[in-house]
Amino acid sequence: MKVSLTRRYRFAASHRLHTPRLSESENQRVYGKCSNPYGHGHNYSVEVTVSGPIDPATGMIANLAQLDPYVETRILEAFDQKYLNEQVPEFAPEKSLVPTTENLCRVIFQRLKGFPLAHLDRVRIEETSNNSFEIEESLDAAA
Ligand code: NI
Repeated sequence: MKVSLTRRYRFAASHRLHTPRLSESENQRVYGKCSNPYGHGHNYSVEVTVSGPIDPATGMIANLAQLDPYVETRILEAFDQKYLNEQVPEFAPEKSLVPTTENLCRVIFQRLKGFPLAHLDRVRIEETSNNSFEIEESLDAAA
């Protein structure tokens, strides 16, 4: 039997979808208006799922009082009100990692996977009410 805990966090950030690997016209073709040089913003909703044994003493997998500050320092402080392309090191121009929400899932998973009190199972991000993306550990083996 497996028990998991999912907690939702929110941050707002801007980004531009653009890669130096493609020409300007190819960027326009692939990313359309999301390649606008001035960027655009999203209100991201991030679900973090952890699992593990239930501590018989507390009845919990992990105390939210411990998960929250872990996510706060590694994700919210680093991403909220930021321009992802230039203010988050993983998306710095020299890295050539386009800040799509797929890649944002990978970056956030990498930043959280060391949580010491439970196993990180999944990160799911809603970029808009119509789009969501998720990553699970087995899918991130190449990251
Ligand atoms: Ni966007």
